[in-house]
Amino acid sequence: MKWFGVVSVLSGLAISPVFAQGTDAQQREAFVSHLMKQMTLEEKIGQLRLISVGPDNPKEAIRDGISKGQIGAIFNTVTRPDIRLMQDQAMQLGRLKIPLFFAYDVVHGQRTVFPISLGLAASFDLEAIALSGRISAQEASDDGLNMTFSPMVDITRDPRWGRVSEGFGEDTWLVSKIAKVMVDAYQNGDPSKPGSVMASVKHFALYGATEGGRDYNTVDMSPLRMHQDYLPPYKAAVDAGSGGVMVSLNSVNGVPATANPWLLKDLLRDQWGFKGITISDHGAIKELIKHGVAEDARDAVRLAITSGVDMSMSDEYYDKYLPGLVKEGRVAESEIDRACRDVLNTKYDMGLFKDPYNHLGPAGADPQDTNAESRLHRAQARVIARNTLVLLKNDNQTLPLQKQGTIALIGPMADSQRDIMGSWSAAGVVKQSITVREGLHNAVGEKANILYAKGANITQDKSIIDYLNLYEPAVVFDSRSPQQMIDEAVKVARQADVVVAVVGESQGMAHEASSRADITIPPSQRNLIAALKATGKPIVLVLMNGRPLALGWESEHSDAMLETWFSGTEGGNAIADVLFGDYNPSGKLPMTFPRSVGQIPMYYNHLNSGRPFNKENPGKYTSRYFDSPNGPLYPFGYGLSYTQFALSDFTLSSAEMARNGKITASVTLKNTGKYDGATVVQLYVQDVAASVSRPIKELRNFKKVMLRAGQQQRVELPLTEEDLKFYNASLKWGAEPGKFNVFVGLDSDNVQQQSFTLK
Ligand code: BGC
Repeated sequence: MKWFGVVSVLSGLAISPVFAQGTDAQQREAFVSHLMKQMTLEEKIGQLRLISVGPDNPKEAIRDGISKGQIGAIFNTVTRPDIRLMQDQAMQLGRLKIPLFFAYDVVHGQRTVFPISLGLAASFDLEAIALSGRISAQEASDDGLNMTFSPMVDITRDPRWGRVSEGFGEDTWLVSKIAKVMVDAYQNGDPSKPGSVMASVKHFALYGATEGGRDYNTVDMSPLRMHQDYLPPYKAAVDAGSGGVMVSLNSVNGVPATANPWLLKDLLRDQWGFKGITISDHGAIKELIKHGVAEDARDAVRLAITSGVDMSMSDEYYDKYLPGLVKEGRVAESEIDRACRDVLNTKYDMGLFKDPYNHLGPAGADPQDTNAESRLHRAQARVIARNTLVLLKNDNQTLPLQKQGTIALIGPMADSQRDIMGSWSAAGVVKQSITVREGLHNAVGEKANILYAKGANITQDKSIIDYLNLYEPAVVFDSRSPQQMIDEAVKVARQADVVVAVVGESQGMAHEASSRADITIPPSQRNLIAALKATGKPIVLVLMNGRPLALGWESEHSDAMLETWFSGTEGGNAIADVLFGDYNPSGKLPMTFPRSVGQIPMYYNHLNSGRPFNKENPGKYTSRYFDSPNGPLYPFGYGLSYTQFALSDFTLSSAEMARNGKITASVTLKNTGKYDGATVVQLYVQDVAASVSRPIKELRNFKKVMLRAGQQQRVELPLTEEDLKFYNASLKWGAEPGKFNVFVGLDSDNVQQQSFTLK
């Protein structure tokens, strides 16, 4: 007989202890049913409320709500003393003593800030990504948190959208892999354990496809594309056991996700078998009025709950209207019971009924200083960050730099502690991040002379600065004239052997509500780069940005370019490691870099069309732009190294694949250059003729391989029938017999080809 595992906490609860036999699921069911029998309708509704603590809702104000059982969970509270105080209120003053859970946006780190998710994806290193997730979970759990609103796995093909920075890029297969890796890393097999947190994958669904890349905008998409390209990463997270799903703010084919029973019930629950909680996004329920599907707040609440939104985030309306709606019979009480059960099940899975303080520990063990340096994982952050940097250009082997002579370090981001952390890093401490300036000094010590000048503001456009500084003074604006700043920078550059210019976007330019109609580097910085170039000194651009930028002009006005995203707490040291060759760059682009905003959307795994553009023979009536070069500036999967790699002898183990069979692609990778280094061998597949058009190629495997200078290795990449499956026009999942092309390359564009037949 197995004892119901809740005895310890029940002794402190108002709920009478019960014991049960059976599986974990049966025990949970028995416990939650027993608890729900004792709850009033208002208490059940209270469990559905996720409340944010902030200036509009101070912690004192919610004390009353907690003690009356009107609040189910809290977010935006991130220290153990604050969290303990609230849990004490629930446990000491609440009638049924139901513990709260505590959530937060731990998106790319908690105390230690890792590179933004787009950067993490660029590592093409699932172990490094997992390590970032594990450390994030450990630090979040150490802060007393139970859940993270992460991973964000929206497929992103439009760099105008500022939130591409929060996701893992454009490739469905890669993002699905990472979704699983992150859920596993956060939950670590059991979200109740100290050191684990529950994942809540977001934003369900299709948020990455907002029209025009404008945040919160409409999404309208064919069912085929939805199933093929956009839904799989959420499903991968659900299959990995993500305890939560956050509902997106956009509409899906005319119906807002928050009022979409097809999405939240039919697809998520019935088809995918999701058993956890659904959480609305911030204030999304009342937004149903503006979406034009709810007449008023009461109607919005009815729609959300009956569509399957369990918890309302920062929305007072569930509390206000649900009791009346139930009494009038407009919402069945069974809907409240269903949602309440999901919340209580979640708390059970978080281990909170066993021990409401399981992540908090005893008060006496709280860290003296939440922000203590000793709580950071700097060494791991540096190793992970340098893995994410992508070398875009390196003419005349400008990089790596020598640790000698004079280096001019210039640019508005070169010494910005705030920017290098990226957005969604609020539990990180700005003063603890290493800027590029500090990283360079750390690297060279007394060996080289580093001169610094800011050179330009991020932008001279005051309206943009005001927008970026709306809620916090994030961007420091230098009131000197642009020419004064450039003059100072040029003077510094003239004294140097090489110029390192750190340019791009401020972190707030790649965030929620940060869509851009233009994806170039702002004119103030371009003017600076032009002036630096005119000095004749070699120019290295260190790019800091959270989206693919149109960098054609920059590539013509520089000798080397290193894409560094927003690289986190240890970013400056990691960037210095790469600039000086202490680490040979190995990152690859997880999103296509277009030449101009006019080419968007641009992604490598597109359909061919009946009149594809052909570089060798462009022709007129082909799918192309006549006023611009065609194709991307830098393709998906692209990234250089200080050494050179060559691929040869590409073979397939068989020219045929049997049903349920497997073949192996093999290729010899040789490091033909002078440096040790790693690269990513990528395997793509194309279904040549299928019942629906299939992409020109799709990533289906990769391997990151480290080779010493001169070394070579046979790299084997297996392919199974599973890798050939897709949704047909009736949305049936399967592989169709026939010819498949297989490509290997070190990016998605420059590839070698073989073929086989699926029987
Ligand atoms: C964002 C979510 C986030 C939530 C809570 C919303 O504005 O869309 O991604 O998890 O706020 O901070």
